[in-house]
Amino acid sequence: MTKMKLSILRGIPRFVFVLGVLSLLCIVYFKFYSLKPFLISDTKCIYAANPHVNDHLQTHILEIVIKKIEHELTDIRDSHKDSPESLRYGSFLADIVGLIESAKSGGPETEVVTGLNRSQPVHISPDFFLTEEIRKYVRVKPNRLGKQNFMGANGTFTSIGHACFSMKKELEEYMNYDVGDICNDDWKLAQRLMVHGCDPLPRRRCFARAPQFYTKPFSFPESMWSLPDDKNVRWSQYRCKNFACLANNKTGKGFFKCSDCFNLTHHENPRWVIPVYPDPFSNSTPDFRITDILDLKPGEIRIGLDFSVGTGTFAARMREHNVTIVSATINLGAPFSEMIALRGLVPIYMTINQRLPFFDNTLDLIHTTRFLDGWIDYVLLDYILYDWDRVLRPGGLLWIDSFFCLKEDLEGYLEGFNMLRYKKHKWVVVPKVDKDDDREVFFSAVLEKPPRPF
Ligand SMILES: *[C@@H]1O[C@H](CO)[C@@H](O)[C@H](O)[C@H]1NC(C)=O
Ligand SMILES: *[C@@H]1O[C@H](CO)[C@@H](O)[C@H](O)[C@H]1NC(C)=O
Ligand SMILES: *[C@@H]1O[C@H](CO)[C@@H](O)[C@H](O)[C@H]1NC(C)=O
Ligand SMILES: *[C@@H]1O[C@H](CO)[C@@H](O)[C@H](O)[C@H]1NC(C)=O
Ligand SMILES: *[C@@H]1O[C@H](CO)[C@@H](O)[C@H](O)[C@H]1NC(C)=O
Repeated sequence: MTKMKLSILRGIPRFVFVLGVLSLLCIVYFKFYSLKPFLISDTKCIYAANPHVNDHLQTHILEIVIKKIEHELTDIRDSHKDSPESLRYGSFLADIVGLIESAKSGGPETEVVTGLNRSQPVHISPDFFLTEEIRKYVRVKPNRLGKQNFMGANGTFTSIGHACFSMKKELEEYMNYDVGDICNDDWKLAQRLMVHGCDPLPRRRCFARAPQFYTKPFSFPESMWSLPDDKNVRWSQYRCKNFACLANNKTGKGFFKCSDCFNLTHHENPRWVIPVYPDPFSNSTPDFRITDILDLKPGEIRIGLDFSVGTGTFAARMREHNVTIVSATINLGAPFSEMIALRGLVPIYMTINQRLPFFDNTLDLIHTTRFLDGWIDYVLLDYILYDWDRVLRPGGLLWIDSFFCLKEDLEGYLEGFNMLRYKKHKWVVVPKVDKDDDREVFFSAVLEKPPRPF
């Protein structure tokens, strides 16, 4: 509606009209909300006051209000005059209509109550947010011609993660921008929202900032094993300000999970080619070589997912074997996504909170390293493993690479992996002997999904 050409208003009658609408709104608003079960502990008296009669009355009044405002909007549009005031007035009215509409459809049955503690429900409705752009985003967008679209839906239902409601302030800050303008330099805020469960995050109608002087990336295959041009990354939110800093073997770079991952020549190059033996006096290693794993199913492994913390080296090595791997990652303290992309590989920017964006029984391989470790909750591990199982095809491989945890937790985790009842091609537990400490172990396995023709 705000896109409509709006124009100047015709003086006093408008003013009176607005006052009228507003007072009507106030009445309806209070009536309406006094009936809403904001708190379940209040509902006894709410339900005692015959809600159905009032529901109809409210809906009727709201419909009248909407009609009146829409009529006003049409008037403004038809008078064909543009001015900042009329534009502001028009978008104000459009927003009011949207608000009322969402209130009208936001009866108790469409409210989501999260958590099992019924005495403290979380009230979830788009009205919860004050920023107009959030409400606009989550409002159902009916198809233009009032018919079903090719996907069989009458509208588009854009959604946000339920945890967005507990991060109201941050989400409002994130969605506070000017439509059509350059977005704030706030990817870090966005990532924080996502990591804390505001995932999916709303899309925005602003242009993401880009590096100031983007230069042509290296061509393939040179790109895979060269540190990219520093100019192709926005460094403002990182402790390091260039790739050399990230590759340099010093601490304090702002990330720790793979502090050597940007050193392509020394650290990354031998991975999955030359195994590392953590204990020099033993011939056991949690490292498997890519060639050995691919030989388990010659020619069958073509596409897969790497769910790891890293710079895409696994995907790079697999690409040399003509296997296409997408690397799931977020930018934890370093520009991992940009690095992977600049190497000519596919980064997918997603958190562990989300169901994988692949259909059932599609991927040949899932590889994971340095991600799922002893920090992870057993139940969460279950949800993740079932989802990975879902996207793996029958005969596909799950490669758990150097999962590490405390010795005493191992049994609990192995139970999780065993739950899949996959065929075990490889299965090793190796002591993790670093920092004069032998309380931890590595677990690595290559497992094959069985057929399930039921
Ligand atoms: C529900 O919340 C109340 C108030 O915070 C608390 O006293 C009660 O123990 C909670 N009940 C459960 C089952 O968590
Ligand atoms: C979608 O539109 C069709 C008509 O095109 C209608 O029959 C159907 O009830 C609508 N469904 C919903 C959920 O509104
Ligand atoms: C990678 O590590 C090696 C050994 O520590 C070091 O000599 C080399 O300079 C590092 N590479 C970069 C780009 O910093
Ligand atoms: C990098 O530094 C760590 C200690 O911070 C050390 O253990 C490791 O050997 C170093 N790597 C190289 C390649 O020099
Ligand atoms: C990858 O594919 C190319 C082109 O089909 C082929 O020449 C090459 O031998 C393949 N490499 C491997 C490792 O299979």
